[in-house]
Amino acid sequence: MVLQRLFRAVIMGPPGSGKGTVSGRIAKTFGLEHISSGDILRANINAKTELGLLMKASIDQGQLVPDHVISRLILRDLKAIPQSSWLLDGFPRTVTQAEALDDAYSVDTVINLNVPFHTIKERLTSRWTHLPSGRVYNVDFNPPKEPGRDDVTGEPLVQRDDDTPETVTRRLKAYETQTEPVLEYYRSKGILETFSGTETNKIWPHVEAFLHKKLSVVNKGVA
Ligand code: AP5
Ligand code: MG
Repeated sequence: MVLQRLFRAVIMGPPGSGKGTVSGRIAKTFGLEHISSGDILRANINAKTELGLLMKASIDQGQLVPDHVISRLILRDLKAIPQSSWLLDGFPRTVTQAEALDDAYSVDTVINLNVPFHTIKERLTSRWTHLPSGRVYNVDFNPPKEPGRDDVTGEPLVQRDDDTPETVTRRLKAYETQTEPVLEYYRSKGILETFSGTETNKIWPHVEAFLHKKLSVVNKGVA
């Protein structure tokens, strides 16, 4: 689908709800730029930047990084792509971050993946990630073509340091206390669209149909 005006979306959901997986499909199908706060932070950690080194401890412990740090990072990246339609994954994660985003851009839609916590705990321990691109695999659900290697580059896959059972529990707690209020924030603005389920492959067709409809309205709006 070719977009005739810029479209700005956010994808939300607890850690491991499939945001990265669904975002990859949305980016491919609709041509939106996928911006993942977690991928950006992990790239900084990997490159041993000053910011990455400062943030590594909180991330490994399953805590959120400070609002002003992540807001500055994401808003700077968005400013660099003024002519692109985008999908934000992992940001905003607090009401303060949502307000910072609102001050700079108007968000068209927020996709919320509602997946039960017990499903999530099982998944994260079998996830493998290609750190440079953020592509994710799961040994049971979407295994790479060659075990332990990224399908596109052939480079090695790794397990994230924050995917241990104790850290996943802490990340889910942070989600409940700090991120759930953001859902209410967007619900009250009338732009929250929730998709519930336990399997990404079953949730995806609904997200895809919703976006097809939404984007055809966006296109008609300028015709
Ligand atoms: P971030 O990288 O954003 O992590 P997250 O929100 O915890 O989410 P994940 O990336 O773990 O999961 P996902 O929903 O993308 O799911 P995925 O598609 O991989 O953030 C990491 C950390 O950075 C945070 O904890 C925080 O410290 C910091 N941070 C980031 N943004 C921040 C912000 N804005 N403010 C402050 N701090 C911030 O899927 C999960 C797995 O499930 C995969 O293996 C997938 O293949 C598998 N899967 C999907 N569907 C199925 C299925 N049906 N059956 C089996 N497996 C499945
Ligand atoms: Mg992710």
